[in-house]
This record gives sequence, C-alpha cells and structure tokens, in this order.
Amino acid sequence: MREIRIFDTTLRDGEQSPGCSMNLKEKLDMARQLESLGVHVIEAGVASASQGDFNSVRAVAKELRSARVTSMSRALAKDIDSTWEALRHAKCPRIHLLLPTSDILLESRLKKSRQEVLEQTAEMVRYAKKLCEDVELSAEDATRSDPAFLAKVFETAIAAGATVVNIPDSIGYTTPEEYGNLIRFLRGSVKGAEHVAFSSHCHNDLGLAVANSLLAILAGATEVQCTMNGIGERAGNAALEEIVMALKVRSSYYGADTDIDTAQIYKTSRLLSTITGVKVQPNKAIVGENAFAQESGILPVGTLSVNLSYEAMRPEAIGLTTNHIVLGKHSGRHAFNDRVRELGYSVTLDISNTLFKQFKDLADKKKTVSDRDIEALVRSILAQEIPKSYALERYVINSGNTITPTSSISLTGADGARVEKVAIGFGPVDASFNAINKIVGKQVKLEEYSIGAVTEGRDAQGEVSVKISSEGAVAKGYGLSTDVIEASILAYINAINNLIYETTREEQ
Ligand code: KIV
Ligand code: ZN
Repeated sequence: MREIRIFDTTLRDGEQSPGCSMNLKEKLDMARQLESLGVHVIEAGVASASQGDFNSVRAVAKELRSARVTSMSRALAKDIDSTWEALRHAKCPRIHLLLPTSDILLESRLKKSRQEVLEQTAEMVRYAKKLCEDVELSAEDATRSDPAFLAKVFETAIAAGATVVNIPDSIGYTTPEEYGNLIRFLRGSVKGAEHVAFSSHCHNDLGLAVANSLLAILAGATEVQCTMNGIGERAGNAALEEIVMALKVRSSYYGADTDIDTAQIYKTSRLLSTITGVKVQPNKAIVGENAFAQESGILPVGTLSVNLSYEAMRPEAIGLTTNHIVLGKHSGRHAFNDRVRELGYSVTLDISNTLFKQFKDLADKKKTVSDRDIEALVRSILAQEIPKSYALERYVINSGNTITPTSSISLTGADGARVEKVAIGFGPVDASFNAINKIVGKQVKLEEYSIGAVTEGRDAQGEVSVKISSEGAVAKGYGLSTDVIEASILAYINAINNLIYETTREEQ
C-alpha cells in the first residue's frame, strides 16, 4: 500500500477564492487544526506578496511542529529571499517555486522563450536549494504545456536539487485519463524521477478536480495538493476530504492510502466555514449537511439505524457524531470549554471568559445551545479581536410598510466620544448603514451582504456577513444576535473597524 502525502493549500490557493480571506489569527487556528488532521505539508500563503502574507507565513512556520510548512514564491531571487525569511524558523520548511511552462503563459505573461525558462529553472532552484533542503517546482499551466518541454523543465529542476515536482492543472482543463497519462509519461521519461515526489494540483472548473487527482495517484503521483471543502480560485481546488475518503474507502482499488486522521475531517471543515463564513453546499460529498442523511428523512446522525449496507462509510469515520452532552443553561464552564476545544478552537483565558458569559446569556434565551451556536459565538468574538475604532452604543429603528424606514445610531469612538446620527433608507438595515456612514464620514460601499439563521427555530441566532469597500480597500465584517437588525449593524461596524485597522496598519 503506497502512502500518499497530503499537501494542503487551503491557506494559499483556498484563501485566494472570493470571501475566503483570513487574518493571521484565523490562519493560525486553521493551520493548527490542519496539523491535527495530519496533513503532510501546509502551504501558508505567499510570503513575498505583502507584509500581511509574510507575517502569516512566518507565524504559521514558527507554530507548527509536525507538518511541513511551505510558501509559494515566484522563481525570482528577491521573492525567494523573503519567502525564506518567513519560513526559516519552521521545523520542516519547504520553498515552493512557481514558473509557467505553457506557451500561452510564456508569451502572454512571462515574455520568455522556452530556453530562458529552462535557464531560470536551473538558476532559481539552485538558489532556493542553498537556503532550504526541500524545494518544490510547480510548472504553472502544466496540462496545457508541451509534455516534452515539461519533462525538460522537471529534469532541469531535479538536476538543480528539486525534491518535489508539481504538475498543476491550473485552469481545470484536463480530464482524468489525460492527466493520468501525462503523469505516467513524466514519471517514465524524466531523468531522476525516481528520486523526487510527484505532486498533483487540480482545479475544479469542469468538476473533475478530485477525479483528476485520483487518476494522478493511480499513475504514480505521491503527493496531492488540495484544500479543505474544495475552496480555491474560481470553481475551487480538489477537495481534501473527498480524496482522503476515496483512498480510505477504496484503498485496495487505488493501492494507496493516507495517514490522515479522518476523524478530524468534519471538525476541520466546520472550522473553515466558521472562519470564512463560506458555507458548504448541503449535498457536498463527505462534509455536506446531507452527506449522511437518508432519503427516508433527515435523521439526526447517531440515531440512524442504517449501516454500511446503505452507506459507503460511517459518519463516525469523519468524526461526525452527536454522542456528546447537549449544552444548556445548566452546563458548567468545564463542559463548555471542552466543547469549544473539541470544535477546534484554542482561545485565550480572556476570550474563554467572554465566550462563557455569552453562552450563558444565549442559554437563557434558547433551550439548547448547539455546536453551530457555539461556533457562531466564537466567530463573533474572534471577529471583534481588532482595535475598535467604533463600538455600538445604541440604535433605534422606526420602520413599517407605510413609513420611510429611519434609523438612529449612536456609536462610541476609540476616544470615548459618543456620536449619534439619523438616516433614512430603503429598509431598516439600509437606513442603519447610512447612519453609520454619516458617523464615520467615509464613502463606504456595501459589496456583499448575507444573512442566515445559525440553527432552526424561532429563537435562532441570526448571523450576518458583510463585505465593504472604501477608497480601494476592502474589509469583511461579522455580526451575531437574536435580532437580525442588530446582527446587521454589528457586522457593518465590525467591517468598518477592520477597514480602518487594515488601512492604518498598511500606512505605518
Ligand atoms: O493553479 C496553479 O497553477 C497553482 C500553482 C501555483 C501551484 O495554484
Ligand atoms: Zn491552483
């Protein structure tokens, strides 16, 4: 049985997808959980892209103990230098170099000849190798490249010291059979292939990312790049959970498995969607809400009487059970803290105290507090963990079907001064956002607004996510309350605080 290494790029390729950006703390939480899941490599970002990315990569590199940490870098000396600076504290660092190899990209973007690309490959792999033992070369747009040229690029990289070669299907263009054949060809024709790992990286534009990755494994790939929940550029990347479970359930067919702790899959998936606010589609394989529901009705997992005669795998295999104590207003701090930890969060004592107080308040309003409620509470507290330029003092809404909605909002500034403004709008939420804009004195545009109920029931908490932009800067915000207008106002203020924090930090 071959053991396939899982290279997780949730924090890099995944983070590049709309709505999935994460701050440093969120990346660290996610990286720790990915390490518990047992992934072999974690790509923490592109350190050379910005100071923020650099800081995140460095923080993840310093934090992790068992997973290898990597950062993608253009094959340029100055980018490699800053990538290494961010990675060098990692216990197991890897520099991940990227060079386009298709004629389309060579002509349109790189403006270099094939010969020049070969020279750059040799020079930059050698340069990176002097800094780091483990060097990966990704041939961007490999599936639209001339296979013979691709083989030469990899041969050159291996001769210069590359330890891993990656064959990205960057635009999600290939088919399973074609991709498998390409990998088989490369493994058979590249000199030195037996000394390096062959890696796949598939995008899901045609819905084939996982199938392509599995064919790559059958053809001899030893490492697979993927993301949790399949997030990533455009239609996303190959979903980690689908590849891992396909190998687990059909290991004898593939002759391969991973050493991923699959019982951590559900927790990791939930943590990601809680952090990003991007929900998993209900019918998503493995981690979707309905993945283990039977046609006869959506029964709570754990009370299902069905067994493997109806399922390819048991829900417990991905860590999905309801066998834990239901939390309510009589639950103590200990049981609550245990549940927060089980959900994958490590919080400071201060946050834990605030969280417990909010949990008690919520338990007074709701009969039972579900995991979803706890995740939402954690998310809302973590979202507030930035310096607050504004905090909500009070709001009064006047709305109805025969009057113009009016909102009066009072905010406290960082200096303690209170400012109150009144505005009208198309509805109470719009009126409130207009009033807040008047207070902060900025031209703020609402780019995205989404509202949802955390659980079922009339006592459910409402959660609101917003994205705003102002003068070219973009920020996200999150708000949670049993009152959806309040949740909207809190989300908007949170986004304004994030916007001010990010723009003033960049100016410093
Ligand atoms: O899709 C792609 O080509 C990539 C590479 C950088 C690996 O993400
Ligand atoms: Zn990609």
